Amino acid sequence: MVKAVVLGAAGGIGQPLSLLLKLNEVITELALYDIVNSPGVAADLSHINTPAKVTGYLPANDGLKCALTGAHLIVIPAGVPRKPGMTRDDLFKINAGIVRDLATGIAQHAPKAYVLVISNPVNSTVPIVVEVLKKHGAFDPKRVFGVTTLDVVRASTFTSSISGAAPQGVRVPVVGGHSGVTIIPLLSQISPRHNFTHEEIEALTKRIQFGGDEVVKAKDGAGSATLSMAQAGARFASSILNATVKGEAGIVEPSYVHLDADKEGCAQLRKLIDGLDYFSSNIELGPNGVAKINSLGEISEYEKKLLEAAIPELKTNINKGVSFIADGS
Ligand code: NAD
Ligand code: LMR
Repeated sequence: MVKAVVLGAAGGIGQPLSLLLKLNEVITELALYDIVNSPGVAADLSHINTPAKVTGYLPANDGLKCALTGAHLIVIPAGVPRKPGMTRDDLFKINAGIVRDLATGIAQHAPKAYVLVISNPVNSTVPIVVEVLKKHGAFDPKRVFGVTTLDVVRASTFTSSISGAAPQGVRVPVVGGHSGVTIIPLLSQISPRHNFTHEEIEALTKRIQFGGDEVVKAKDGAGSATLSMAQAGARFASSILNATVKGEAGIVEPSYVHLDADKEGCAQLRKLIDGLDYFSSNIELGPNGVAKINSLGEISEYEKKLLEAAIPELKTNINKGVSFIADGS
């Protein structure tokens, strides 16, 4: 039995993400939780002829507890999205409390689940989840993930529009975090190999770092990326399920995690990033979640500068999440 849970399931991301999870035949039970409309979304999806039994829960009648109990994997897209002119950090005020309360439910009712955090600002909401789990003695660094897959998906799409390669086959490691300058595409490590000009590298880097803004601007006040995010979230969830349920080896995905997930492996990485506790890097997934965190490999001078610019912002974002739980500020 494999139970997956979506917290924020009636939202712009939640609905298409729940649809894609319903199509994943590894999942036998899909629980949808939201403060509104989740029973309707569940009824709708339940007519699709795939194995997952779909249930919908609202906060009343212990809905969060019922949704979470027995969960193998939990995805969190709950919270408000950006409007034009806002940064992801501007969402902290509202989303930090939402994520804290959902993480408390996870610590109480599903402490062994794999937790995939989509809600922004990811650089801070992942530390919030971790601090809540720690408080409850339920933290396993191998099981908590900030979902940065959309940056990787965008990197494949944007680079292939210049290189001419088929976008599905292109891999670009995107490391760091998930906001503006903390998003660091390692274009020097693109596979299949391609030599971009310096101008192309600068333009592509900027586009990948600020790809979210393109969608926010185009939606003009109606939210941020939802459909591409649902695809990216479902891809990452599927990778976790393939590693932890099907036992598939060799799955590598970048994700923003606490580096205690691979203390020994991260010794070198930690030096490169000024001792940060959280960072997104290529992760090898295994039967218990994170199996190994890869260091950055050889990076170009340009990428070293991107890294330098990202570190202070990441530090501020991480501290903000940690302090929110430590002293409520
Ligand atoms: P949305 O407003 O369409 O949906 C959010 C849903 O969360 C709503 O249905 C709402 O009712 C629900 N919700 C609010 N409070 C809740 C609570 N306490 N418990 C359960 N559900 C609750 O927003 P969206 O477009 O789906 O975006 C959701 C979040 O995902 C935003 O913070 C956005 O910035 C973020 N996001 C992250 C990435 C990424 O790459 N990690 C990409 C896109 C969007
Ligand atoms: C994205 O990268 O699309 C998301 O983080 C949403 C946003 O606010 O840009």
